[in-house]
Amino acid sequence: MITSASTLPDPTTPAVSLRGVVKAFGTGDARTVALKGADFTAAQGELHLLVGPSGCGKTTLLSVAAGTLDWDSGTVDVFGTRLNGLPKSKVTAFRRQHVGFIFQQFNLIPTLDLTENVSVPLLLNGVRRHEAEERSAALLQRLGLGGKERKRPTQLSGGQQQRVAIARALVHEPRLLIADEPTSALDRETGHQIMEILSTAARSPGRSVIIVTHDPRTYGYADRLTEMEDGGIAGVHHGQALRDFISIHH
Ligand SMILES: Nc1ncnc2c1ncn2[C@@H]1O[C@H](COP(=O)(O)OP(=O)(O)OP(=O)(O)O)[C@@H](O)[C@H]1O
Ligand SMILES: [Mg+2]
Repeated sequence: MITSASTLPDPTTPAVSLRGVVKAFGTGDARTVALKGADFTAAQGELHLLVGPSGCGKTTLLSVAAGTLDWDSGTVDVFGTRLNGLPKSKVTAFRRQHVGFIFQQFNLIPTLDLTENVSVPLLLNGVRRHEAEERSAALLQRLGLGGKERKRPTQLSGGQQQRVAIARALVHEPRLLIADEPTSALDRETGHQIMEILSTAARSPGRSVIIVTHDPRTYGYADRLTEMEDGGIAGVHHGQALRDFISIHH
């Protein structure tokens, strides 16, 4: 059974655990096996980076972990809840309450202004509009977008849109925050500010942040780093091995 918002899972329970996960897209000649029996673990209280060449399966793995994409075989556990066989409605309810996403394409809603975009996860969780918009505006301010609350996403630069997407993913303080290239469109200073915010979120009890990145500037914020290759896990680094990895790839 999914635990309620008030009860934190045992701190030793992984935030995300994938075992032998296989995921193929398409059929016949068009068939691509994106995950070939991937084993992946992200602990609570950690900022976890996922790296690897384009097409190796990073976005697919994140989507499976987030419960937005079905997989073919293997097991998926999120904060101790096995997603295999869980009714769709339960997966959706869990995701709405406990998961935040920052998509590779920002997926902002063009007809809503910034405050309204950021408010969406709060409204879905039953927060009243006035309070939702107040919290959203405060977070936008923290992310350097004060004064732009009533603008539409298309009136912003790529880096500004990325920050709105980040605000929307953080606003309901999800247990699991999943981010696909959150710093790609950001200048150095803003990129570091965002990584500070994400690492603070990761290191709270019962929370976890997993980030796909090609950006070596983010490596120093990692507690653990998983390398993917061709649909599988090629290596997991932490401690001294992580520092060695960073010194080679920086
Ligand atoms: N919806 C889809 N339909 C068909 N094939 C897909 C689909 N999504 C992903 N793939 C294929 O699965 C493989 C893994 O894709 P994925 O998007 O997970 O890679 P990635 O590591 O995130 O790459 P990038 O760094 O370019 O974002 C690729 O070969 C891709 O073409
Ligand atoms: Mg991707």
